[in-house]
Amino acid sequence: MKGIAIVTGASSGIGEAFIKELSGSDHEQIWIIARRKDRLSTLKSLLGDDRIIPVVADLTADEGICLIKDKLEREKPDVALLINCAGMGIRRDVADTSADLLAGTVNLNCTSLSILTGLCLPYMHEGSGIINIASSAGFLPQPGFAAYAASKAYVISFSRALGVELSSRKISVTCVTPGPVATEFQSKATGGEKTDFTGFRKLVVASPDKLAAASLRAAQRRRRLYVYGFSQKLLHVAAKIVPHYWIMKIERFGK
Ligand SMILES: NC(=O)c1ccc[n+]([C@@H]2O[C@H](COP(=O)([O-])OP(=O)(O)OC[C@H]3O[C@@H](n4cnc5c(N)ncnc54)[C@H](OP(=O)(O)O)[C@@H]3O)[C@@H](O)[C@H]2O)c1
Repeated sequence: MKGIAIVTGASSGIGEAFIKELSGSDHEQIWIIARRKDRLSTLKSLLGDDRIIPVVADLTADEGICLIKDKLEREKPDVALLINCAGMGIRRDVADTSADLLAGTVNLNCTSLSILTGLCLPYMHEGSGIINIASSAGFLPQPGFAAYAASKAYVISFSRALGVELSSRKISVTCVTPGPVATEFQSKATGGEKTDFTGFRKLVVASPDKLAAASLRAAQRRRRLYVYGFSQKLLHVAAKIVPHYWIMKIERFGK
């Protein structure tokens, strides 16, 4: 039996897709973390898998982090896989975004991801893996999505450095950078205004199920950076050679 898997953001979208994939794996337990208890319970009964353990926690609150820390200290599990998938973004100019939402984005996408990773490391061993869900938004700044893009640039940078730190322990770190994915994310990011992606983004929307399956395969191959989808690979290359200011202008125009 493999050790346990821990997945954040498990109540919807990409995180939920990871759980569906993992329910066919041989992990001893799968801890599924999010705030919406009903969603986690429904997912567990839908999959009919007793190894799934719902953990209701707000990762931006001290109590949420303490709850997971205490559970780890109490149960001392063998953590074979950590998937940091919880995330949020607000599609609005900074001037129109509240302090709470700006702080919430950074707290969830950067702070809680870093803290949770640090909490899990003592329980990881040779062969364990970490998957951090960043975004192609992290390749360059994004006007109208500034805090989110900056937070995902943090996730990419953090993952790359962590991967080198953990290489001597033979723990792999795979940073996944998808473009638009069909989940609740866009609706939440626009305060319910738009449920679907618009502009050129709607042409390249990915399926969460395919993304989750491909990301797990990439982690098994110990890929360090997994840029998902041809269009995002193009953006990745463009972000290295085209002045960011030009791309930002095109993006602003095509939103
Ligand atoms: N969809 C896209 O286009 C896209 C593209 C690139 C990258 N991503 C990234 O993919 C990841 C998953 O997003 P998604 O598309 O699957 O969106 P989603 O359906 O909105 O999922 C977000 C998940 O994060 C959890 N979450 C939010 N705030 C939380 C908090 N304070 N504490 C604990 N959990 C919290 C949510 O659960 P609760 O609300 O139940 O807590 C939910 O399970 C995110 O990191 C996102 O940035 C998404």
